[in-house]
Amino acid sequence: MRTQVGIIGAGPAGLVLARLLQREGIDAVILERRSRPYVEGRVRAGVLEHGTADLLEDLGVGARMRREGMVHRGIELRFAGAGHRIDLEGLTGRTITVYGQQEVVKDLIAARLADGLPLHFEAEVTGVDGTTVTYKHDGVEQRLECDVVAGCDGSHGVTAGALPAGAVRRHERVYPYAWLGILARAPAANEELVYAYHERGFALHSMRTPEIVRLYLQVPPGTDLAEWPDERIWDELRRRLGLPLVAGPVLERGVTPMRSVVVEPMRHDRLFLAGDAAHIVPPTGAKGLNLAVADVRVLAEALTAYFRDGDEKLMDAYSDTCLRRVWQVQRFSNWMTSMLHRHPGDDPFDHGLQVAELAYVTGSTAAATTLAENYVGLPR
Ligand code: APR
Ligand code: PHB
Repeated sequence: MRTQVGIIGAGPAGLVLARLLQREGIDAVILERRSRPYVEGRVRAGVLEHGTADLLEDLGVGARMRREGMVHRGIELRFAGAGHRIDLEGLTGRTITVYGQQEVVKDLIAARLADGLPLHFEAEVTGVDGTTVTYKHDGVEQRLECDVVAGCDGSHGVTAGALPAGAVRRHERVYPYAWLGILARAPAANEELVYAYHERGFALHSMRTPEIVRLYLQVPPGTDLAEWPDERIWDELRRRLGLPLVAGPVLERGVTPMRSVVVEPMRHDRLFLAGDAAHIVPPTGAKGLNLAVADVRVLAEALTAYFRDGDEKLMDAYSDTCLRRVWQVQRFSNWMTSMLHRHPGDDPFDHGLQVAELAYVTGSTAAATTLAENYVGLPR
């Protein structure tokens, strides 16, 4: 098999890239290790930046998002027993859309298959050698010859490891806490997202629909879910969030470690990394999906110039262009994470500084604007 762009991974990065290339008449084949139900059932984040939502609409995959997604005009920060609203729209003129990443992925997969374009599930890539991609499908090893390879295979993929060791640097920071997350059939306890800093640790109230909530608690890394029966989770959430949460059946639960990773540069020769394959952000700013989409917009423009005019300038600039945004988003996600979590070993002085920071961010229009403009998404 041969194609212009071999895309490894059918997450948001790979699927949006394929859709952008389709619009430019560039051929692509997507190879995805997992099955379609697995990919569509994976619960991930749920906040779309203003520009991400607009792009999905431009790409003709935004109809259900506009219908079922919820436009939020602000978020709330809670600390010291009180809530403080950040008026995202008033401060920036922009909003966010709350719509699950898995719904975005379903819409993109449906559109690609309806257009009859190649997307192979249960096709696990086992090696990338130059522009030859080797993968296993139905137990048979196959090869895909490409002009360019896009590594959109997430944080556990193979492409980051295919970059020659001497040519890349990997920056990593592991945070001394994790998130215990649940998805539950229960009414939202607040119309907007609530990020809470509490002496017992961080908590987050988010949602997927008005009847399905997504809730998180800061817990120690390596926490065993067996120690957290539902009752305990709901009690702890109520305590930290200070919201009258009504409990309901828990549909999904998990513990996610928190880390930041940057792979630099994001390109070697004809292999381009995008999304989680190149970087991971802690989830506090809800940036993972949005950053993946920002990468592939840059990549699609570069590949368009290359395939249309043979112009390699944008391909050569790809890594630097992306990394400028990647580091801005790392900065923001790291700042939100530090501001909102309890850090093991902190003393009352640290706690005082943290509360002062939150009071400043919610009390000063200038400070609230820095949060808001990053949260809705920095301009390209
Ligand atoms: N061969 C084929 N597919 C692979 C391989 C492989 N060897 N390794 C991984 N994959 C697939 C995974 O199964 C997954 O479906 O690549 C896909 C990567 O998708 P994501 O993990 O969703 O990564 P990305 O598209 O970069 O999106 C980033 O996802 O993890 C969240 O918070 C993150 O919101 C962010 C977004
Ligand atoms: C989510 O809804 O899953 C979510 C929302 C905001 C975040 C992280 C996750 O910062």
